[in-house]
Amino acid sequence: GTAQIGVTGLAVMGRNLARNFARNGFRVAVHNRTTAKTDALIEEFGGEGDFVAAHTPEEFVAALERPRRLMVMVKAGDPTDAVIREFVPLLEAGDVVIDGGNAHFEDTRRRERELREHGIHFVGVGISGGEEGALEGPSIMPGGSKESYASLGPMLERIAARAQDGTPCTTHIGPDGAGHFVKMVHNGIEYADMQLIAEAYDLLRSVAGYSPARIAETFRGWNTGRLDSYLIEITAEVLAHTDAATGKPFVDVVQDRAEQKGTGRWTVQTALDLGVPVSGIAEAVFARSLSGHADLREAARTLPGPTASVLGEAEAAAFADRVEQALYASKVVSYAQGFHQIRAGGEAYGWDIDLGGVASIWRAGCIIRAAFLDRIRAAYDSRPGLVSLLLDPRFARETGTAQDDWRAVVAEAARQGVPTPGFAAALAYYDGLRAGRLPAALTQGQRDFFGAHTYRRTDREGSFHTLWGGDRSEVPAG
Ligand code: 6PG
Repeated sequence: GTAQIGVTGLAVMGRNLARNFARNGFRVAVHNRTTAKTDALIEEFGGEGDFVAAHTPEEFVAALERPRRLMVMVKAGDPTDAVIREFVPLLEAGDVVIDGGNAHFEDTRRRERELREHGIHFVGVGISGGEEGALEGPSIMPGGSKESYASLGPMLERIAARAQDGTPCTTHIGPDGAGHFVKMVHNGIEYADMQLIAEAYDLLRSVAGYSPARIAETFRGWNTGRLDSYLIEITAEVLAHTDAATGKPFVDVVQDRAEQKGTGRWTVQTALDLGVPVSGIAEAVFARSLSGHADLREAARTLPGPTASVLGEAEAAAFADRVEQALYASKVVSYAQGFHQIRAGGEAYGWDIDLGGVASIWRAGCIIRAAFLDRIRAAYDSRPGLVSLLLDPRFARETGTAQDDWRAVVAEAARQGVPTPGFAAALAYYDGLRAGRLPAALTQGQRDFFGAHTYRRTDREGSFHTLWGGDRSEVPAG
């Protein structure tokens, strides 16, 4: 065969990636279980580049140059395993199987192990940017052997988005599940970003009294500053949109129940296992969950509490500025938590992930792309051992400056009964980190009291237990 890459699974993401490869001058073999999809792609987009249509797995494999590069773009989970099972007998040692779906990184680790036994490289690739990104240039997070990246990397670099300085938004993240892990955390941060923006909107609407159109204008303004990002940009678009059927703001005719496909949940589940406090991301997942409990919310509407009251015009403008500060500081916290999780995952799984590199490839193409990521890249590039993004001198200065407004916004939200779990959790994390002493000492005392779980002292080495039920003397433990 002569095709440099094959794509099997031609739903919208697979189809657009295949077209992206073809548009960039690669010969692309395309395959789909239902052959009509393959024919439709050729019919509609065949003119965009050099496609080879394959109607059977055998034809598909035969169309590929060796070592073969075969990209699987089917649903995550069982469908991916089924396709792999189907193709493995047709492949040979040295071939590269690429999973471009939103797979769980543990599945990717398992598949990599299984295929390695056949001498086949399995590359789990996180791809962000939605349908448009897949076609025009996504952010690509590949995990797999160094060897496989040597043959695949240059192709991915051609189809990936480019940061403003021209750097392609893809890099070898690390072995086996590293790419899908980083994509998972990307999605967790995506959830947090979206939740924080939603809270800012809620405050501007119910406390500042702004209309959706005016909030769209406010976000457009913010988008010219340090909050410059894709998510702020599309938020303004959504808020400015008017529903054709009713003439009402679009946002007012949409049911307020947020859905999720699960990647944000995975981020939090994994963070719990790793022991990393990603409280902002967790609150974002829980906020979606709470919104979905329609019956519970309906029943609880009788609970007493304030109804937000609208500020006067002059106060409203000052309040909006404070919300910008709170949003920015909370965003820095989300990224600090996400990058902490990536570092911890890298250590737990032996991946050796370059955090500056991750920030670099998120600068364009992906859903969380933002001007701000270039500064995160710079922070980790200049200090690879940086313990927390919050400790980078520039981010420390900015959150320090923002904190008065941040506190005022969280306090005002609490006073007026506007739920801001994201802002509040981010602020609590910030204060938790800076606290000299945490009440965790008391927690330890309680644990020792009811379960003899022992504690450590501030003034001496070793573990101790107090005889709470006896004379309350202290004994060394174990
Ligand atoms: C991306 C997105 C993409 C997808 C999510 C949405 O990076 O391109 O994250 O992966 O839009 O699956 O997730 P939810 O449906 O869970 O909101």
